[in-house]
Amino acid sequence: MKTILTGIQPSGALHLGNYFGAIQPAVELAKQGQALYFIADYHALTSISNADDLRRFTFDAAAAFLACGLDPAKTILFRQSDVPQVHELAWMLSVVTPMGLLERAHSYKDKIAQGADASHGLFAYPVLMAADILLYHSDLVPVGKDQKQHLEMARDIAQKFNDRFGPVFKLPEPIIGEATAIVPGIDGRKMSKSYGNTIPLFGDEKAIKKPVMAIKTDSTPIDQPKQIEGTVLGQLMQAVNPDAYQAFAAEAATPGVGYGDLKKKLLAEIEQRFAPYREKYDHYQAHPAEIEAVLQDGAKRARELAAPVLAAARQATGLAR
Ligand code: ADP
Ligand code: TRP
Repeated sequence: MKTILTGIQPSGALHLGNYFGAIQPAVELAKQGQALYFIADYHALTSISNADDLRRFTFDAAAAFLACGLDPAKTILFRQSDVPQVHELAWMLSVVTPMGLLERAHSYKDKIAQGADASHGLFAYPVLMAADILLYHSDLVPVGKDQKQHLEMARDIAQKFNDRFGPVFKLPEPIIGEATAIVPGIDGRKMSKSYGNTIPLFGDEKAIKKPVMAIKTDSTPIDQPKQIEGTVLGQLMQAVNPDAYQAFAAEAATPGVGYGDLKKKLLAEIEQRFAPYREKYDHYQAHPAEIEAVLQDGAKRARELAAPVLAAARQATGLAR
């Protein structure tokens, strides 16, 4: 059975783009092997400076995956910092990681260009990520396009370790999530929390209604047919309920139907699709001990898988056992 591993950045309020681009594909992929999904709180520490935020975002990310159907009996869901052994491996990997490799990292250069402080943690981020992957002999690593280079670095680092100390690590294969369409935000740009154009995944009806009713449309008058294909409204309907899309497009093309009516239709579809997830999410928010129990169980299983790999790396390098 293939080991599938990925890290999830705990980054705050989740939106429909996160659901269709990350959560749903991860929940589906987890059915195809032994999945290990972790909330990358060590990595998040490179950008989050408030302890309460980090705790809350980590918890919320775990609650989101469980609410959206991840089966914790099958998938190992854990918090990265509950397996601190990963740092021991990161050190062993860092001694075989060329400076030049890290200096070429786009992600590091982009973050510095955007004004982030040049910390060692940010620079060494790809080494910790390689340790995350190699610690569990991961076969498949699903990530977004932006993480492709980090994965290639993980393979390079594994190869360098194996060349120097012997064949300890499996070289992981990336699965780059290019197939999933970009979900547009209410202003037509990519839905992103940094643009403030999101429709939240969780939240009460009011919180969802406001952005949906504010979706950008053209000024076609109510008595004229509307062409919905390729518009924000059309793309969102296609994502939320593909089966209802044809009828939605036909309705839009009917003179007398206004954008307000179409937005209400979309809102109803969002409600229908996500209400069960929201209910589960609210349940977890009210019962945090249930999430903690899942994360503790996940961490225990992850540590069991990590132990022999770490032991092999120690053996190969000559560190004390
Ligand atoms: P944001 O842009 O809101 O900061 P993140 O960069 O934290 O979102 O993305 C987290 C995950 O959600 C990534 O895997 C990313 O590919 C996915 N994602 C984010 N926004 C979208 C979108 N609009 N459409 C599809 N996937 C998205
Ligand atoms: N760097 C990834 C991101 O920003 C998160 C991550 C950390 C990760 N460790 C990983 C992804 C290991 C895949 C495998 O999205």
